[in-house]
Amino acid sequence: TSLPPYVMVLFGATGDLAARKLFPGLYHLAVADRLPEEFRIIGSGRHSPGSDEEFRDQIRDGLRETVDDLDDDAARTLLERLSFQTSNADDGSELAQAVRAAEEQIAGDTGSDVDDVRRLVYLSVPPSAMDGMIAMLGREEITDRARLVVEKPFGLDLESSRHLDSSLKDVVDEAQVFRIDHFLGKEAVQNILALRFANGLFEPAWDRRSIASVQIDVPETLGMEGRGSFYESTGCLRDMVSTHLCQLLGFVALEDPGTLDEQALRDAKAALFQDLRPLDKEHVVFGQYAGYRDEDDVDADSDVETFVAIEAHVDNDRWRDVPFYLRTGKRLAETRRTITLRFRTPDSSLFDGEPGPNELVLELTDDPKITVDLRAKRPGPDMALARAEMCLDLVDALAAGGDDSHPLEAYERLLLDVLRDDQTLFTRADEVDRLWQVCQPLLDDRPEVQSYEPGSWGPQAALDLPEGGWRLGD
Ligand code: BG6
Repeated sequence: TSLPPYVMVLFGATGDLAARKLFPGLYHLAVADRLPEEFRIIGSGRHSPGSDEEFRDQIRDGLRETVDDLDDDAARTLLERLSFQTSNADDGSELAQAVRAAEEQIAGDTGSDVDDVRRLVYLSVPPSAMDGMIAMLGREEITDRARLVVEKPFGLDLESSRHLDSSLKDVVDEAQVFRIDHFLGKEAVQNILALRFANGLFEPAWDRRSIASVQIDVPETLGMEGRGSFYESTGCLRDMVSTHLCQLLGFVALEDPGTLDEQALRDAKAALFQDLRPLDKEHVVFGQYAGYRDEDDVDADSDVETFVAIEAHVDNDRWRDVPFYLRTGKRLAETRRTITLRFRTPDSSLFDGEPGPNELVLELTDDPKITVDLRAKRPGPDMALARAEMCLDLVDALAAGGDDSHPLEAYERLLLDVLRDDQTLFTRADEVDRLWQVCQPLLDDRPEVQSYEPGSWGPQAALDLPEGGWRLGD
């Protein structure tokens, strides 16, 4: 690869995200030969996992669990370059030394200048710890030549997110900040742009004249999985809605950015978020699954929401009066990531709009599917109609056309983008600020939390939210 040399510092290196996504992502990049020629990875955190050797063993074991058919050579490429250095918000001096030592090693090995080595600092730490860590990085000058990758949620409300932003601006420029929302790394999400702007079939129909409503539906069967204490301080609105679901809405609804460069795309998304109406409690349902309060690390009287359903509106010429229904929650009946565009019925009296409208359904899984729900004549002597589904498995369809390129997992793609300094798929400060403005009314005046049964589709009130019902469910 032609990437410059890097020293990467991973805070939270012994945590869940690192084990499930970051190390497997780096490993896959190593297999695909997409990592820089020269790099070092320094794991960091408050508690030492033991010697470097023990840390490497722990990461190797993690890789064996998450990666099928682990390639030992590629794993070695990664593990050989891995070490651990404790640090905390008060003391980062040893970490700073370790970073400089790694840079000098690289410079010595390659005969290049220490200043040519870039730094990637991955902050997978809870919101409460974020400001302190950022200040430490600045104090220790670890921020020099660094790209800072910041995990969501970006603050816990408008005020704390502005505080976080000013902590960041104290030590780095916006061009160095990569706010990661891994949904944007999903192939299927980027494909929304391709589908919309490269297809004459869809682009002209992508507005209020043709579309009656939009559903962004991300139910999950998963429960807490040991994340009770994280969830208690976060909740579903912050964990999923103000980030992932709103970003999906942004991709579905933005105006043509003109070009795909990082500024244009993010300008278009930020402009759309300006038109997104602040959420109104009257059109929101919060739910909590029965049994949540018995989960580990969850308060016995908790009223944290594990489910949110929302009717949102975009007040611009393209979308005025088109409701956007958003739904997501834990312990629901299915795990899906679905965007449904419900079309208006044609203005013709031939069929009286029967049997219901067309829908275009995008399944944003790792195996993306597109379904178009059509109306067709039923065979036989009479002119009677029925629904007919046209379902396309995109990977198969592209393979049938001779394309054998491999998808990148979301974190893998986004890590690569940080290394190649491309911010297109990362969230900009103005987007974050506006999305908190949109969500803040629900934090100031929380909707009452309604109980729902695990394995259901959420509280009854949410089922009734969209006119014509949800695409998914019974
Ligand atoms: C994470 C949330 O950001 O996204 C989780 O914190 C959620 O609560 C997850 O389960 C869903 O991501 P994916 O990639 O599995 O759809």
